[in-house]
Amino acid sequence: MEQTFIMIKPDGVQRGLVGEIIGRFEKKGFSLKGLKLLNVDQAFAEKHYADLSSKPFFSGLVEYIVSGPVVAMVWEGKGVVATGRKIIGATNPAESAPGTIRGDFAIDIGRNVIHGSDAVESARKEIGLWFPEGVASWSSSLSPWIYE
Ligand code: TYD
Repeated sequence: MEQTFIMIKPDGVQRGLVGEIIGRFEKKGFSLKGLKLLNVDQAFAEKHYADLSSKPFFSGLVEYIVSGPVVAMVWEGKGVVATGRKIIGATNPAESAPGTIRGDFAIDIGRNVIHGSDAVESARKEIGLWFPEGVASWSSSLSPWIYE
């Protein structure tokens, strides 16, 4: 079953949005497979965002990600990478539809509350980086009520 990496950024944690965000993924029907609250250092944040290292906003982005604890999660389910991105909303909260996490809870692109993998391959890489210890192995007993 497909998995994605979701991270609640420091602003989401500081603003008390952890429960709200987890609730949205849970209520959709996805399964939580990994969850931890942690601080990351600059080298780790740079590795996570390595693809953006040439961008002008890179150093500000790294500074933001290391500024407080983040919640790292792995969610599983059919189409969870693409659907997770829809639940999160567009990168710039000014363009995120109401009803999405960024559309409902963010204003500035540099404080957009949450990260979600953009493809199955990047999800695999990000899960390996953030959860080298692996994730929980279980399957929800609700599956027959979620999948046909
Ligand atoms: P990106 O991977 O393009 O977006 P997403 O998080 O939706 O996959 O960019 C990573 C993060 O970089 C983004 O969530 C917020 C930040 N960012 C800026 O601060 N300024 C920008 O102009 C862009 C494009 C991104």
